[in-house]
Amino acid sequence: MHKNITVIEHPVVARDLSILRDKNTGIVEFRKAMARVATILAYSALKELPLRESVIETPITQTKGSEIDTEVIVVPILRAGLSLVDAIIDFIPDAKVGHLGMYRDETTHEPVDYYSNLPDGVSDGMVLLVDPMLATGGSADDAIGFLKNQGAKQIRFISLICAPEGLERITKKYPDVSIITAAVDEKLNENAYIVPGLGDAGDRYFGTT
Ligand code: PRP
Ligand code: URA
Repeated sequence: MHKNITVIEHPVVARDLSILRDKNTGIVEFRKAMARVATILAYSALKELPLRESVIETPITQTKGSEIDTEVIVVPILRAGLSLVDAIIDFIPDAKVGHLGMYRDETTHEPVDYYSNLPDGVSDGMVLLVDPMLATGGSADDAIGFLKNQGAKQIRFISLICAPEGLERITKKYPDVSIITAAVDEKLNENAYIVPGLGDAGDRYFGTT
């Protein structure tokens, strides 16, 4: 595995991935499983947050404390990326959120951009780009390129399931971007869906078809 890729191995993640992959899982259980895995992915992605020392008073004495020493900016790729945002905000309640809207053209499988709204601070902070599915890598490639154009220097990509094709594309083109995921699947099918995957993440999470 490429040094930039972290695949989370945990019994709870394995159980929840099975719930998410199962075509018979309904929307309520799908959302709950996504939220649980998102928490574990977020916890792992935040592992290298820089800290600064502070001084705090316990009820007993003064001691050294820690504060997070960077701004955190979460950037979901709409729509499905929204499913991973709350887990990060639970850990970093003052994180800013930028949105990048794009969908895959059904024929070309290329991403089509339809919206962007980024907060100030992407050039100095830690940017967590989130999208549960990395398939061809086209959407992530576009999003990372856009973030870099806006000056982002520290980008981490959090994804639930990745295809080898997308991972190769992103690790080759952006060797400075680390990737945190719960699974690396087998391949893409002729429609550029991840195999075995879980189908269309946005549709399953939002109840659309
Ligand atoms: C899905 C997914 C990613 C993209 C991955 O979005 O959430 O953004 O496809 O595919 P890629 O790696 O080949 O670019 P989709 O286009 O289905 O939009 P949606 O989230 O609005 O459903
Ligand atoms: N987008 C999805 O939601 N699922 C896939 O398998 C590929 C792209």
